Amino acid sequence: MTTRVLTGITPSGTPHLGNYVGAIRPAIAASQASEIESFFFLADLHSLIKAQEPERTQRSTLEIAASWLACGLDPDKVWFYRQSDIPETTELMWFLTAIASKGILNRAHAYKAAVDKNREEQLDEDAGISAGLFMYPVLMAADILIFKANRVPVGRDQIQHIEMARDFAQRFNHVYGKAYFPLPEVVIDEQVATLAGLDGRKMSKSYHNTIPLFAPRAELKKLVFSILTDSRAPGEPKSTEGSALFQMYQAFASAEQTAAFAQAFAEGISWGDAKQQLFERIDAELTPLRERYEALMAEPEKIEALLRRRGQQLREQYAIPLLKELRHAVGLRD
Ligand code: TRP
Repeated sequence: MTTRVLTGITPSGTPHLGNYVGAIRPAIAASQASEIESFFFLADLHSLIKAQEPERTQRSTLEIAASWLACGLDPDKVWFYRQSDIPETTELMWFLTAIASKGILNRAHAYKAAVDKNREEQLDEDAGISAGLFMYPVLMAADILIFKANRVPVGRDQIQHIEMARDFAQRFNHVYGKAYFPLPEVVIDEQVATLAGLDGRKMSKSYHNTIPLFAPRAELKKLVFSILTDSRAPGEPKSTEGSALFQMYQAFASAEQTAAFAQAFAEGISWGDAKQQLFERIDAELTPLRERYEALMAEPEKIEALLRRRGQQLREQYAIPLLKELRHAVGLRD
């Protein structure tokens, strides 16, 4: 039997090199393994909880779809779709809501953090907290269970959500007396590289130290040359350890290229030359991606058609028949 692997993508603006190296590239590589059926979806319904800016929501969804396609996701080999194109997901969410225990949701990290913050500020516990934030884990469980996913690769911050999905699935199976849902397993990639940003801290939007994945060549060069280094002069041996520049090179180079770069560090390569080499290495990998991204963004109607087509196929093949079965199971019958 093939294993179903499901990856949720939160649409939040254009990705940076850290997203590419740490999430996009490894996920696409993993999707090419045999014996698995891969599901990748844009969690646009979830994004409504964070931001209520219609134009931005639309724009981010498009940009993220184009980004993943440009990075090599093959929409004929994997299921690539938009969460909101599968309305059965929200219907399943209600069935799960009916059996989910509120106490479990009270303990969700994101909700608890928001409550704690309110307490600290001596506000009402639930001030400014939407019911959507509270229900976030139930919608996420529906995303997973609607396609009976077996494995869900996520970051550590999402482990609790997968445990909740298991809990709701188990409860549903128990209440309605049949194994409707397999219990999804969390997959944590221990190897994931976190890339250092321009200032040496982890590359992250919140630190403003990122290099956008599809930055034009000139901007990419400028940013690479702005990476923080120590003040060692040309000719002085340089340390690869803790060097953001070296680490970034490694993320884009083969083992041999990396060894040669380390050798150059030991031999005192100037920072200017090292940056030039790094720029050329990254640019070589990213140029074809950038070109694909620009071509895709120039024809958004093609992306739209693709997402719709795959969403429709998924509904017909899986979501609609499943909901028919579940409606009957819970007693919504003729
Ligand atoms: N909550 C996930 C995140 O922030 C995104 C997501 C939504 C997701 N639904 C999912 C991930 C279902 C895995 C499975 O990254």
